[in-house]
Amino acid sequence: MNQVSQPSGRADLPETVSLAHRLEFLQMSSADRQRLREIAPLINAGGEQFVERFYSHLFAFPETARFLQDPILVERLKRMQQAHLESMLEDEVDEAYVERRRRVGDVHAQVGITPQMFLGAYNQYLQYGLRQMASSRDVLLPDFVEEVLSLLKAIFLDVELTLDAFFAQATSNLRQALDMLFRANTELRQFAQLTSHDLKTPLATVANLCDETLDEFGPQMPDEACRLIEMAKQRTYRMSAMIDELLELSIPVDDLKASGPIDTHQVIAEAIERMAPEIDQRKIAISLASSLPPVWGNRVRLREAIFNILSNAVKFVDKQPATIKIYAEISNETCKLAVADNGPGIPPEELDRIFSPFRRLKTHQDRPGSGLGLYFARSLIEQDGGRVWAESQLGIGSVFYIELKHKG
Ligand code: HEM
Repeated sequence: MNQVSQPSGRADLPETVSLAHRLEFLQMSSADRQRLREIAPLINAGGEQFVERFYSHLFAFPETARFLQDPILVERLKRMQQAHLESMLEDEVDEAYVERRRRVGDVHAQVGITPQMFLGAYNQYLQYGLRQMASSRDVLLPDFVEEVLSLLKAIFLDVELTLDAFFAQATSNLRQALDMLFRANTELRQFAQLTSHDLKTPLATVANLCDETLDEFGPQMPDEACRLIEMAKQRTYRMSAMIDELLELSIPVDDLKASGPIDTHQVIAEAIERMAPEIDQRKIAISLASSLPPVWGNRVRLREAIFNILSNAVKFVDKQPATIKIYAEISNETCKLAVADNGPGIPPEELDRIFSPFRRLKTHQDRPGSGLGLYFARSLIEQDGGRVWAESQLGIGSVFYIELKHKG
């Protein structure tokens, strides 16, 4: 299989403004970069002194001093701070530069340093830089430098307050979205509970009717008719148990019964049995490896994931003879369960889309389905720390993989 969808994993960074656009908006030209390189020796000459002042400023405020308790860390930071200042003046501003700055931003955000602290610290850069430059020139009056610095402080304060408002707004939007999600989740769970009750009541009635029929008319009926009615009754019990298990899936993950080793073969056989009518009708040859290794997870989640992947394959196989093969590949820690079909295949650009909710292949818009099956399959397996992805070759077929831990 030559086309592989991305296994689920880390989310990408959101699209941000391009570097070229940032520089344009800042009106930072090559002349600016040249000027910075020219003043670099003057500013760097007092680098050590600058760094001492920088950190004494941070030590003077409890909110920043608390991050600097470890003297070894502070010594390391002093060296890095000096290098940072030098690179700001001398380095080429390219994608690698942006990446290094992003890393610094990430490190600070992770430990909890706020934009307000950051801006205050950059003000140290300005005060030091401008005073250093003024001291080397007669034309730049000290009063003028102090005026520029006051103006910059006013600008920094404005930037700080605007950033505060921006983050407050963004956080409040996020909180509203979370509230909505929580409410939708609660309503969905209540709906699932009501629906399960509504579905189980008529099933119990059907089972009772089967019993009554057997009690009242059993002796007059042929043995084969009694056997079929008994089978119908057993099916209603099984369906009722399945509704209970599905209801379990709508309960928050932590409440769900503990995960453990799963009898993979049995779980897949259950999923196949549920699809039996469609499999027969479409004359699909299903082959299930005779022995499969146990995997670690929740059996209901695995069964539903397999069921969704299988029903997707059953729906789309288009050749005769149509085949679906289910087998396993084991590595040290993990086991990959593969569902391979000889269907039409999936175009490379669609391979990842198919796992998004309500995304259906353009070529399959006419087929029945909610567009949620593969999305559910992936999210169920991810809840057990596993991955789901697909590989495909147009015209040849697709393989859907479920990877779970082989041992707990
Ligand atoms: C002008 C603004 C600042 C610059 C340019 C700057 C620069 C840096 C750099 C280059 C690093 C090393 C990052 C790495 O490991 O790759 C660092 C780490 C750190 N900075 Fe800053 N910093 C600034 C402001 C602050 C402020 C206001 C604080 C507050 C105390 C602070 C505290 C820290 C701490 C605690 C770390 C170490 C984080 C860790 O490795 O756990 N920095 N900084």
